[in-house]
Amino acid sequence: MKVAIYPGSFDPITYGHLDILKNAAGIFDKIIIAVAHNGEKQGFLSTEERVSLIKESIQDMPNVEVDSFEGLTIEYAKKNGANVLIRGLRAVSDFEYEMQLSQTNSALCDDIKTVFLTTKPEFNFISSSTIKEILHNGGDISKFVPKPVFKHLTGKIGRASCRER
Ligand code: COA
Repeated sequence: MKVAIYPGSFDPITYGHLDILKNAAGIFDKIIIAVAHNGEKQGFLSTEERVSLIKESIQDMPNVEVDSFEGLTIEYAKKNGANVLIRGLRAVSDFEYEMQLSQTNSALCDDIKTVFLTTKPEFNFISSSTIKEILHNGGDISKFVPKPVFKHLTGKIGRASCRER
């Protein structure tokens, strides 16, 4: 059984991430989408919110599970019997960082390989930061994120601006 981990911060998950995930779900028997919890870096969404939004967004993908982890991705992969890490490539600018990450992970455990999948061109420019910037400036993010994420983020910003008044 080929188990793959798709690690990332997913703050929040976008249609770009889902595109990668859909392709991966057709290749591997089981995918675990793993939200990296970084205690030092405070995100916009809590780890619990990210996990819950991912769960709501992947209901049509029966071979995908959602989890979170702390520490090294490679250790999490070993613990879960995964032999592949999935990473998405959007543009050449992603390549240098991804190359370094995959080589570091190979140096830590050569049995676990990184597989790169590319996004559809229409998702090339999306990142979680741009979503948050559009949202904070009152723009429409509905084209870029799954419905549950849209609902949660617009609700969250609405609640925050009510408190500010
Ligand atoms: N569609 C849309 N956006 C995408 C994307 C896609 N297909 N692929 C990446 N992105 C965006 C993300 O939204 C994120 O945007 P942001 O910077 O605006 O928030 C950015 O690209 C990078 O995100 P991501 O792919 O989630 O990577 P990351 O840098 O947040 O996470 C980890 C990297 C968590 C996998 C890595 O740091 C890690 O493994 N950490 C654990 C510790 C470890 O093992 N380190 C390695 C050895 S030292």
